[in-house]
Amino acid sequence: MKILHIGAECYPMAKVGGLGDVVGALPKYQVSMGVPCAVLLPMHRTFFLQQHQWDVVHKGKICIGNADLDFTVIKKSGNSVGFDLYCLDIFGLLDREKVYGYDDDYFRFLAFQVAALHWIASLEQPPDLLHLHDHHTGLMPFMIKYCFAFSQLKNISTLFTIHNASYQGIMDEEFRNLLPAFDDWKTGMLLWNNQINSLACAIKCADSVTTVSPGYLSELYNNSFGLEQLFHQEHQKCKGILNGIDDEVWNPATDRMIAVKYEQEIVDWGKYANKMHVCNTFGFDAELPLIVFIGRLVWEKAADLLSSAIQDAFRLFPEKFNCIVLGNGDASIEQDLTLINRDYHGFYRSQIKYDEAFSHQLYASADFLLMPSRTEPCGLNQLYAMRYGTIPIVRSIGGLKDTVVDISAKNGFGICFEQLSIQEIANGVGRAIELYGNNKQVTQIRKHMMNINHSWQKSANEYIDIYRSLISSS
Ligand code: GLC
Repeated sequence: MKILHIGAECYPMAKVGGLGDVVGALPKYQVSMGVPCAVLLPMHRTFFLQQHQWDVVHKGKICIGNADLDFTVIKKSGNSVGFDLYCLDIFGLLDREKVYGYDDDYFRFLAFQVAALHWIASLEQPPDLLHLHDHHTGLMPFMIKYCFAFSQLKNISTLFTIHNASYQGIMDEEFRNLLPAFDDWKTGMLLWNNQINSLACAIKCADSVTTVSPGYLSELYNNSFGLEQLFHQEHQKCKGILNGIDDEVWNPATDRMIAVKYEQEIVDWGKYANKMHVCNTFGFDAELPLIVFIGRLVWEKAADLLSSAIQDAFRLFPEKFNCIVLGNGDASIEQDLTLINRDYHGFYRSQIKYDEAFSHQLYASADFLLMPSRTEPCGLNQLYAMRYGTIPIVRSIGGLKDTVVDISAKNGFGICFEQLSIQEIANGVGRAIELYGNNKQVTQIRKHMMNINHSWQKSANEYIDIYRSLISSS
């Protein structure tokens, strides 16, 4: 059984959000469990790309509409990432600094998918199954099934994982002419509401569909940005599998990105030592609870409410907590969060950037992690936080609901709220400040959370079970 994961991101080569973490960790665990896995992603021009050695393994040509494009597949030398890592380059299209955010993204990812299938078709021993991640790979199951050029790939099974259904890869219907030839009457499989919809197409054409938590799948039946009916139609092939975390990368006992390493027995001491480090940098009082937000500053994460919620909380609980926001995203949200730096000097600081190392330092230092998400397919940050003994303050939705239990329940360890509003977020902060006053309970919760096993082991096996059943029935 040979598996090829394909996605737009893969840590440590390229990461924008949790998708990168999953595509970088799941294959590693599967390889260690005896399943040969490789990963293919576009050749983004990242630091990692420049810092490592690569071998050219394939050169080919594709034709997209009127454009003749040369492509190259390179493979990372050595095995330091734990699986075979391949990148596909199309000169001028894929070798760019950002993973997404270009006007021609639709064309870039379409070309990537076509070139990827050409490469796979050229392999002497092609994979048995493609594990595809998010809409950037959503047209591949269709092309395998229906494009004449890829008829030899028909026996390859496809599993499509939805990390985020709010991005669907929508294009005008006329773009179907950019795909390799197929019978015209199959066009309907590409469409949803008279447009090409890569996500909908994947749900229709993939052999199996998963979401990154069971809770998220049940929400998608009622709210999936227009795809509700499709989820109902295809429910038999859909399953929710909770993401795991890479517990080698995320381990406070060995983490080289944090100031002071610590284990569960000495969590209070370890966290305080790390908090001192951060508080000294920002001129904060380390005796106060430190509440952090780490993530993309976008609507889905409810980052648009953060600035008002933080101000409300400071009005309600003045000088009772410190707060740091780390992330980047929408310019107006970045601006709102920067503007308030002046007003809460000594208690609040925004760090508008993507900074992997500093995020580790914050998980180690913070007492609480705030995640008020509007939608959260799984959420990894709450899991990282728990591993570092940091108490999550979350809106109970999607994967957050599946993984965080409120302190009011038996064995509860988090602070949860149901409705999303500025007031609810500020209330959550209030409950956190109150909890922080109870040292004994905080220590118990920290130790309990650090004991919960969220490693990939279990979920990686669930995927392997699906691979097996698809491959044996193909
Ligand atoms: C997306 C989702 C997030 C999930 C991650 C990995 O970034 O928004 O909830 O954890 O993908 O699956």
